[in-house]
Amino acid sequence: MFEVKGLIEEVQFDKDCIIYIPDGLQFIGQGRSAAVFRILETQKAVKIFYPEYKGLAEIEAHVYQKLNNHDYFPAYYEVGDGFLLMEYVEGITFYDCLVSGIPITEKMVVKVDEALEFACSLGLNPSDIHLKNILLTSSGQVKVIDVVRFTQEFDCPHWRDLKKAYETFYLRRYVPKKFPKFFIEFIIRLYRRRLLPI
Ligand SMILES: Nc1ncnc2c1ncn2[C@@H]1O[C@H](COP(=O)(O)OP(=O)(O)OP(=O)(O)O)[C@@H](O)[C@H]1O
Ligand SMILES: [Mg+2]
Repeated sequence: MFEVKGLIEEVQFDKDCIIYIPDGLQFIGQGRSAAVFRILETQKAVKIFYPEYKGLAEIEAHVYQKLNNHDYFPAYYEVGDGFLLMEYVEGITFYDCLVSGIPITEKMVVKVDEALEFACSLGLNPSDIHLKNILLTSSGQVKVIDVVRFTQEFDCPHWRDLKKAYETFYLRRYVPKKFPKFFIEFIIRLYRRRLLPI
């Protein structure tokens, strides 16, 4: 852990821009509050929150502790100052499935439902479930990542709306299963502006 901590401390941000990544860490992805790196030659990933969101690390750690290493979520290892150490999940997001044409099956959707129901049964409130927060692993498992907003109180409609779009649009026989990125981004933008009839 000592060595890993040194590596993590070397990462530099300017707000949400990553300015420096040390050898030993491999960039995996980033979102609104953090960037995630794989610790090379391990099956571990570190989520490092941008300086202004540092406080979220403790909150997300508590959620992971509650989830108690359930299979539907990445295993959680440790929390530090502004970062979380967890399992590196080898797989692709549902977003990437849409871009590369890998079918999102009804079975996969049921698995997400099960994951969220499990979280609900623990008194959590699954929120912010979007296409980049769900991973399909190479062995066909589904894992929900990014559980930081599971503690918020208000009702988040994202997963409900995604499922509705899935059932009424994606599942139609003549609808393609592969979409250009710009198209997905356009739809996401319309959704955020509440311009979609959902
Ligand atoms: N444990 C993991 N294993 C593999 N990839 C991961 C893991 N955690 C996160 N990622 C990748 O890193 C990206 C960003 O992580 P995450 O969603 O946790 O950040 P965030 O800033 O909280 O995102 P959001 O914008 O949804 O709030 C994910 O979309 C995913 O591609
Ligand atoms: Mg995310």
